[in-house]
Amino acid sequence: MDHFALKDGVMHAEDVPLPRIADEVGTPVYVYSRATLERHARVFREALDGVPDKLIAFAVKANPNLAVLKVLQRQGYGADCVSIGEVRRALAAGMAPEMIVFSGVGKTRAELSNGLKLGIGQFNIESEEEGVELAEVAESMGMTADCALRINPDVDAGTHDKISTGKADNKFGVPIDQAGQIFGKLAHSPGVNMRGVAVHIGSQLADIAPLERAFEKLGELVTSLRGAGHNITHVDLGGGLGVPYRKDEELPPPADYGAMVARVTKDWGVKLIFEPGRVIAGNAGVLLTRVVRVKRGLNNPFVIVDAAMNDLARPALYGAYHHFEAVEPGNAQMTANIVGPICETGDTFAMGRTCDELASGELAVFRTAGAYGATMASSYNSRGFVAEVLVDGDKFAVVADRIDAGAIMDAERVPDWLA
Ligand code: LLP
Repeated sequence: MDHFALKDGVMHAEDVPLPRIADEVGTPVYVYSRATLERHARVFREALDGVPDKLIAFAVKANPNLAVLKVLQRQGYGADCVSIGEVRRALAAGMAPEMIVFSGVGKTRAELSNGLKLGIGQFNIESEEEGVELAEVAESMGMTADCALRINPDVDAGTHDKISTGKADNKFGVPIDQAGQIFGKLAHSPGVNMRGVAVHIGSQLADIAPLERAFEKLGELVTSLRGAGHNITHVDLGGGLGVPYRKDEELPPPADYGAMVARVTKDWGVKLIFEPGRVIAGNAGVLLTRVVRVKRGLNNPFVIVDAAMNDLARPALYGAYHHFEAVEPGNAQMTANIVGPICETGDTFAMGRTCDELASGELAVFRTAGAYGATMASSYNSRGFVAEVLVDGDKFAVVADRIDAGAIMDAERVPDWLA
């Protein structure tokens, strides 16, 4: 459930009519709902009521906006970060360092030492090589890093290839059949405290069965690590729960996921860490856009909107579906190709989509844009970076300024020898 709905024929975010935001902030603009973020945070937490000892660490990559992170911090969430930049954001939003997990397959030496200095709660190590390097760095600083070893369980998450992370040939984690040996080696290094294991098999999972398979494998690994004398106190189960992008789509509710987790992990006796991203933020945001013009097409008309693939990359990158609807719909429908202004055919949000009839100057939204939306924006075609707004009841605030093409150009220089 979200808080974007028609009231008197006009789409609102909570109690704010979207045309008001378009008038005051311009378009395209991402609009987030605080009530929806809080609702999702609560539902996910309550789904895990059966798990006694846990940390829910929001996957910052899904939506790193400071105001969004602040909403989640106030809900008791920590953060899953994959760069020192994300760590800085989580800290700036008031998240306690010990509630931050530092994941990522390519953490640099500088990121490892900065993470240690900042007092990060847990490093999720993705290779033996990274573990050895972290141990060296920590030892040289006279510190010990609390670590989990990320396991690649070789489970097909059944999602888009580009966002699947738990198959044997994906770059993430260490192969599960080598995990015991690698864990054992690292456990002897003084700079690291090997206290657990981690897994994340992919994103936008439409089925919890692959997660269950991965968690069962992890449970067996925990038993065998303990058998080898290791003290396993933490297990990170990653994120991955899918959300409905289409109106009629049914996805497993968080409660089913929570019940499965409670069942599979009941005898583990560890603190569980969760890293949800999309399920918290996805349906808490829309991308508000204005129709530039409608162009006649060979088959269908082209609805050219002022948002483009640089603002919302998912359709171009993954062929992803984002529901598109008018902010002030009439009764008529049209079948159209919905495209942005960028000079490549990939800048297409949908072909042959049946949607509300729209004309030049009218407003529309792409739904489910709160996760992996603004954060994946670029300035391609010198379009600048889109603004972001957070709504709370009948008020709203700009929580990220629009960065126009001029400001980006200001960071560039022509060297003297070329002038
Ligand atoms: N933990 C780790 C280690 C991850 O790599 C990810 C996502 C998450 C947690 C959060 O997963 P979620 O709960 O959001 O599914 N840009 C793509 C999604 C990439 C996800 C990458 N990893 C998209 O737009 O679909």
